[in-house]
Amino acid sequence: MKGRVRTDQAPNLGTPLPFFGAAQLFAVSGLLMLSLNARTVVQGVLTGPVVVSMVHLFTLGTITMAMMGALYQWLPVIGAGTTVPAWRARLQFVLFTAGVLGFVPGVATGRTPLLVMGGVALESGLVLFLYNIAAMGLLRHLRARDSALVAAGLAALAATAILGGLMAGRLAAGTAIPNSWLAAHLVLGPGAFAGLVLAGVSYRLLPMFLPAPPHPSRSGWVLGFGSAAIVSGVLMPALPLVPIAVPLLSLTAAGVFYLLDVSRYWRQRRRRTPDGLLLLIGSSHLGLLAALVTIVLAVAGARPLLPAAVAVSVLGWYLLAWLGFSQRILPFIAWLHGMRGGRRDTPHVAELWPSWLGWMTSVGAIAGSVGVLIGFLIRVVWTLQAGSLLLAASIVLFHGGGWRMLARVHRRAHR
Ligand code: HEM
Repeated sequence: MKGRVRTDQAPNLGTPLPFFGAAQLFAVSGLLMLSLNARTVVQGVLTGPVVVSMVHLFTLGTITMAMMGALYQWLPVIGAGTTVPAWRARLQFVLFTAGVLGFVPGVATGRTPLLVMGGVALESGLVLFLYNIAAMGLLRHLRARDSALVAAGLAALAATAILGGLMAGRLAAGTAIPNSWLAAHLVLGPGAFAGLVLAGVSYRLLPMFLPAPPHPSRSGWVLGFGSAAIVSGVLMPALPLVPIAVPLLSLTAAGVFYLLDVSRYWRQRRRRTPDGLLLLIGSSHLGLLAALVTIVLAVAGARPLLPAAVAVSVLGWYLLAWLGFSQRILPFIAWLHGMRGGRRDTPHVAELWPSWLGWMTSVGAIAGSVGVLIGFLIRVVWTLQAGSLLLAASIVLFHGGGWRMLARVHRRAHR
């Protein structure tokens, strides 16, 4: 799982940053929307237009957006691809952002032109993203398990987008959406795409953040069960005989093998310096565990728990892991920018991202996520509202810390 890091291959700051910035802004907008619509969510109205549009602020505007920026930065650094040309990343960013800005209000208001234009921009942005990643050369590095996991996750994203486009077409035409399409969209999007990409990236990041003696990895099992979930998920709309339990249990098995690997890092790690990042990453793994338990309960008969499984995965695992990893990656990218600007006196990463900032964002984000999830699961409006506002405040704090740090490095580099 360990590999060489090639910082000289990293793209310029301008490539990943717009994606990270937009992801944070969309997350804050989604959380404000969640606090305003807490009553609707608590009443269990989960497929109404407002909720569906809010869900996509998180899934497309935050998770997918952040993963796009992360992969443009990360693949060349781990030697799994070349750098994307800056203009193509920027064009893709503009298309995808315009897509989210059109599609989300289009779904909420039911305005067909907005929905159609937003949907077309969104799909074009996704196609260009997948083209960019393929052109960077990811497919030539599939022998490395972490790259293969990312590639499998991106294949699931392509299938999610195709199904999403078909469902959006039905919404625009006012015709009903088959249940099996929505079920497959859930398995492939918030399940296989987000889960496998995050697992692939984590397999590289965890050994850096939680150094541990080398041990055999179970990433082959994660990949195998993840791929089985994708194949059975894709088959579901065409063959209604395939029960949703098949892809859901495959995803759960992939998650269990991943958690078994992760737990070794926690047990064996040599460096025992608690900080905000470790707290967030640790909590995100508890979030994954909670998501797996919720999925198993949903399969065991409590099918209405499926939205809860999505919420626990998105807020309890992806969002916390994203905030955690970003606390190391962003200061590192900023430091690299300073050094490349010829400033050998660029402050150390620990100085750029003071530990009090890490602690405050982490504690706020964890408390906020727990509040939202408790509110969602036991249906309490004020917990959901307070949790989403606390989470939004932590992301704003994180955002402010990030800009302060970048401005500092940038000023020095151009002095
Ligand atoms: C081009 C991309 C996408 C389009 C056009 C799209 C479109 C849609 C549409 C039209 C629905 C509503 C179906 C209904 O009314 O019952 C839906 C539901 C959903 N989508 Fe997407 N989607 C896309 C990508 C994604 C991705 C990447 C994810 C997750 C990572 C995702 C997660 C969800 C979830 C969780 C729901 C269920 C929402 C609920 O029932 O409240 N979507 N999507």
